[in-house]
Amino acid sequence: MNSTSGAVTVQGLKKRFGDMVAIDTVEFSIAEGEFFTLLGPSGCGKTTTLRCVAGLESADEGRIEIDGKPVFDGATGLDLPANERAIGMVFQSYAVWPHMNVAENIGYPLKVRGQSGTQIAARVEEVLKLLDMAGLGGRMPSQLSGGQQQRVALGRALAIEPRVLLLDEPLSNLDAKLRELMRAELKLIQRRAGLPILYVTHDQVEALSMSDRIAVMSAGRIHHLASPEEIYDRPATRFVLDFVGSVNYIPCTVAGSGGGRMRLAVAGGAFDIAAPDSLPTTTDLTVAIRPEDLALSATGPDDAPRAQITLRSFVGDGFEYRLDLQGLSLRARTEKSVQLDEGTEVVVTARRGVLVDAAAGQDSVVAAA
Ligand SMILES: Nc1ncnc2c1ncn2[C@@H]1O[C@H](COP(=O)(O)OP(=O)(O)OP(=O)(O)O)[C@@H](O)[C@H]1O
Ligand SMILES: [Mg+2]
Repeated sequence: MNSTSGAVTVQGLKKRFGDMVAIDTVEFSIAEGEFFTLLGPSGCGKTTTLRCVAGLESADEGRIEIDGKPVFDGATGLDLPANERAIGMVFQSYAVWPHMNVAENIGYPLKVRGQSGTQIAARVEEVLKLLDMAGLGGRMPSQLSGGQQQRVALGRALAIEPRVLLLDEPLSNLDAKLRELMRAELKLIQRRAGLPILYVTHDQVEALSMSDRIAVMSAGRIHHLASPEEIYDRPATRFVLDFVGSVNYIPCTVAGSGGGRMRLAVAGGAFDIAAPDSLPTTTDLTVAIRPEDLALSATGPDDAPRAQITLRSFVGDGFEYRLDLQGLSLRARTEKSVQLDEGTEVVVTARRGVLVDAAAGQDSVVAAA
């Protein structure tokens, strides 16, 4: 195999633990400065993939390059140790050393590498600036906020001037509010450092909001590798559709199509939405519609289905509704300006939706318009 450009290139990576296939032919390439995320449920192989890239786990097959340099090759037996891979890592269970101040924490990896005091001090200053923590080098961890401690952990990974940062659920031990703040903080630090990031999370909101591209994984395989928008709007498989975002499944039949639109007959009426390039041939169809893609109103087209509002919840920037559509429970969202009362009947229209074969499994391909 030829060398390919990219900050990190992973080809045909496989890893078994005994009989269990943890990762199965995983492939991706991370561009310079890219924020690349592995997203998937617990046990799907995210950490194993990251550890193989880091050199903390040996894959069985495949090839890994970092910064154009092969670090692992199953065919030749090449397997460089972690400290020869130019990576910086932060784990979920990161801890800053409580008995060292901020500067000592960040400088520690350089000290281990035998750098001089002046070299270390200069790099620590640079890293503190990257972290937007200039002047805080003398603080002890106990005098820092949770978010600042998180940044120190990141600083320790940045100190050695890695070519790529590997982050495994680094925000998961922060509370919800801080986690949200740190998402933006982390992006800003990445831009200042100009470094590519390989990020691991099971949190879809985190993945969607931070990543340039996401690889959605299930059972050791990548189902879909694309931008957050593409993954959300045009999921490649049933698994991706289910895992990323919320979705309503409504049994339907195609009642007509033409001009790029299709008419879907559902319980109590019909939806008129954009059609995919080719309509599925199966008759056992379901239309998958995101809650925000269902529109609710007091009046509407005669053939639009009517549903009963069973529950209304205020969610700050709008309302979330539970609806009963002829025995089918649906979720919908409206903006604050549209406030509909519990118990009333509303007209339901769909802005967009994806057709899926009702009987197909998680691996089945989804055709979106
Ligand atoms: N050292 C090991 N020995 C045996 N099995 C392992 C080992 N490490 C991981 N596994 C198994 O490999 C699979 C993938 O694990 P991995 O830790 O990569 O999942 P993950 O996607 O990071 O999950 P989580 O979101 O829970 O961290 C799991 O089934 C796990 O039990
Ligand atoms: Mg993990």
